[in-house]
Amino acid sequence: MPSLLKRASPTITDMIRFDHSHTLITYHQYTADKMSVTKRSLAETICAALEIHATLEEEIFYPALQAFAASEPVLQKSEPEHQAMRALIAQIRSTDASLPLHAELVHKLMQEVIHHVADEEAVLLPMAEQRLSKQQLCELGAEMTKRRMELVAPQAGKLAVNTFVGMSGSTVVKTIGAIAAVAALGMLGQHKRPVKS
Ligand SMILES: [Fe+2]
Ligand SMILES: [Fe+2]
Repeated sequence: MPSLLKRASPTITDMIRFDHSHTLITYHQYTADKMSVTKRSLAETICAALEIHATLEEEIFYPALQAFAASEPVLQKSEPEHQAMRALIAQIRSTDASLPLHAELVHKLMQEVIHHVADEEAVLLPMAEQRLSKQQLCELGAEMTKRRMELVAPQAGKLAVNTFVGMSGSTVVKTIGAIAAVAALGMLGQHKRPVKS
């Protein structure tokens, strides 16, 4: 990737904050009055976003912190917390969205995610911004974007459908759901070509 693009990229820390906000906004749509099909799509949107986010942090963000914060307890418990989250995601996917257990599992997952995100935003992100230069943060951001595209491409169609169905079930943003679906489908078209490094 050209160095100008790397410098112009958003920082990795801003990207992580954006991912956290996006997941919480989706969770806020998961309410008791929603139809099962909407709940299932919202849950899947949350689960897929969390899986991609966790992989990006484990492959790019946490290793960048290891160089100067290996003994930081919040960093040490981050990957085990991701593993616990993945176990809950598997349970959610194998549970019928019409059952009360589905909502219980989604709320349990998000309880854990909110705690985890609070630790990252209060400790790890400020630490990264203190210890790494703006250019380093932008370069890591560019690396994260590139890897995100690779992770999203194989499931872009599924992500688009779940985003559209989930948002269509809300009374707030049908248009945003449609735009997200079109954008993700456009991304699918782009990624029919092999990704070059
Ligand atoms: Fe994390
Ligand atoms: Fe995170």
